[in-house]
Amino acid sequence: MLLPCLLLSLVTGSFTSRIIQSAGDPDSHLESLRGIVEGPLAGWNAVLYLDPSLEPPVWECVRGLLAGRNASHVLVDLGSDGALWSEGQPVDLLRGAFMVHVVVFQDDPRPFFEAVSLQWNPQYLLFFSVSNETKKALLLDDTFKGVERLLLVEKTSLKDPGSEPTSGMFTSFPFEARKIKLIGSWDDAAFPSREDLFVDRFESFRGYEFQLGTSLDDYPYLYKSKTKPKGYGDGVEVEMLDAMARVLDFKYNLTAEAPDRKWGAFENGSWTGMLGMVHRKEKNFTVNYFSITGERVDAFDASVSYWMEGFGMSMLSPPPLPKWRGVYYPFTPSVWLALTVTFVLVLIIMSVQDNMQPVPFLGGVGSTWPYLLRAMFNNSIPRLPKAQWQRLFVGTWLLYCFIVSSAFTANLVAFLTIPIFPERIQTVKELAKSDYRVCMFDYGEFVPGALRSSQDPHYKALGEKLDLFSAYGACVKGMRERTHANIESYSYNLILLFVDYKVKNSYMLSEQLYPSYLCWYFQKNTAWKYKFNHGLRRLVESGLVEYWVKIKTEDFLGRGFERRQQLQDTERDIQALSLEHLQGVFFLLAMSWAAGGLVFAAEVLRHRCRL
Ligand SMILES: *[C@@H]1O[C@H](CO)[C@@H](O)[C@H](O)[C@H]1NC(C)=O
Ligand SMILES: *[C@@H]1O[C@H](CO)[C@@H](O)[C@H](O)[C@H]1NC(C)=O
Ligand SMILES: *[C@@H]1O[C@H](CO)[C@@H](O)[C@H](O)[C@H]1NC(C)=O
Ligand SMILES: *[C@@H]1O[C@H](CO)[C@@H](O)[C@H](O)[C@H]1NC(C)=O
Ligand SMILES: *[C@@H]1O[C@H](CO)[C@@H](O)[C@H](O)[C@H]1NC(C)=O
Repeated sequence: MLLPCLLLSLVTGSFTSRIIQSAGDPDSHLESLRGIVEGPLAGWNAVLYLDPSLEPPVWECVRGLLAGRNASHVLVDLGSDGALWSEGQPVDLLRGAFMVHVVVFQDDPRPFFEAVSLQWNPQYLLFFSVSNETKKALLLDDTFKGVERLLLVEKTSLKDPGSEPTSGMFTSFPFEARKIKLIGSWDDAAFPSREDLFVDRFESFRGYEFQLGTSLDDYPYLYKSKTKPKGYGDGVEVEMLDAMARVLDFKYNLTAEAPDRKWGAFENGSWTGMLGMVHRKEKNFTVNYFSITGERVDAFDASVSYWMEGFGMSMLSPPPLPKWRGVYYPFTPSVWLALTVTFVLVLIIMSVQDNMQPVPFLGGVGSTWPYLLRAMFNNSIPRLPKAQWQRLFVGTWLLYCFIVSSAFTANLVAFLTIPIFPERIQTVKELAKSDYRVCMFDYGEFVPGALRSSQDPHYKALGEKLDLFSAYGACVKGMRERTHANIESYSYNLILLFVDYKVKNSYMLSEQLYPSYLCWYFQKNTAWKYKFNHGLRRLVESGLVEYWVKIKTEDFLGRGFERRQQLQDTERDIQALSLEHLQGVFFLLAMSWAAGGLVFAAEVLRHRCRL
């Protein structure tokens, strides 16, 4: 991937021939160039932009520098077409800190850089001017606005020919009153490393007021403040901004909502919502709930991630199962089946054993089954078989019955008193296979589109079952009727249901859709973004973001919300047994009596017929 720039690539051959030798006194300004390239920039990969109108001594100096360099470099002709050049270059060469970009020029280099693609945004850019005129205007030019570290080296004896010629080093501080400053003049000993050479241009924002493209409807991240005047927000993002504002010295102005009232997506060839405001350069950045996606990163500068969250699906808890069924809940159907099969087997074996005796001990199946059942119902057995081996068999049966009946009794108590809920849907897969549909408030999130075009069969199934509504009310109504599961970003969903709609018996599926990393989006090529990155990292590493998310969520849901939810799911209030609980037993009793009555009637009939 990086291969092209690791090789010495001569981008345009046209000027190599111009690097010709010519004799001359060493010029002190050119010595500075040598000092910089062999000093602080030694060992760094470099992109060298060379002006075709440079004079022969300069060419010679450059040629000497290149020959002595250890690190790889790329040569670019400033006379060529910037658009064409930047098209074919790898991203690592165009952006970031992998290469230091050095421009050695005589004439104005702007035409080349105005043409390069939006991807071009080096972190370190050094202008080395050999011109007789000052080129300080470059430092404030919009073309280089996005460069993090910018440096211009030019002759300072321009105005006063008598003085000792030195190479002055200038940089711009966009947030300060005197924007261009002299950092010093070149001296081989004064700037040992790259960081000394390229100073931090954004130490402080000097009280600048950033315009934020936001929406104040994003619990618990960003919402209208209840205590402060109109226009002010509250939430996790506000805490983060306030913490950073104090250190970096800036102010911010929030927007209540995007003019088109959308969230932010790429539609019909343009960005909508808050991202649209940032993309159109109306606002400086946005801090709402936005996850990192490839499409957005291409069009914006993303900060580092500060939190991870996905889209949560909320559903109403299924109603508890009828109470009378508590009688058979202690065992699962398979256990009941196993018990029945075992009983039939034991009955057969016992009957066979009995038949093999010289004198049958019980005498027929009719008396064997009540005999075996006695143990099952904790009744004593009146007498034991005579044969030792048969006693052994009955003894084992007794032990088996003891364990089964104790297990049933113990479980029965619990099952009679606690409402039993059917298994809840917890994963996307289960939801996709269930009869539930899903719904979402359509405010321009990427989720509906992404679900419908998903490769994952379960996500795709959800996409096909998705109903989009134009208000939250309709969604929540569907959820209350147990026809829909509501999709919304996890924390927001939680607060929406418990606070806005007061749906108490709902729960969130444990799996989230598109769990992703949240970040702030800046305009593409924002030079000072790294300051916010640094601040965000500090807030994340100190655990403050996590703390604020917890605090702001609890503001809505009350303290210890999670614990209360869990308790509600596991242990419930102590209840006295009601008639409803014991219904099952009476039901069984009635059934058994009915069966007994039937058998009795059959026997009477049989008796009558025989007579
Ligand atoms: C150049 O690289 C060689 C080996 O990679 C190393 O020994 C030498 O010190 C380097 N020279 C400079 C000036 O960095
Ligand atoms: C720059 O100035 C020096 C002396 O001031 C002069 O000799 C030289 O020709 C000038 N070069 C250009 C390109 O103007
Ligand atoms: C935000 O900016 C708008 C327009 O620039 C201005 O009217 C408003 O007063 C500002 N709000 C705050 C809180 O600074
Ligand atoms: C995209 O453009 C078409 C035609 O101009 C329009 O009908 C459609 O509503 C637009 N879609 C969105 C999401 O704006
Ligand atoms: C912030 O955005 C405003 C437009 O709302 C723009 O005028 C200003 O230059 C931006 N500030 C910075 C530092 O980019």
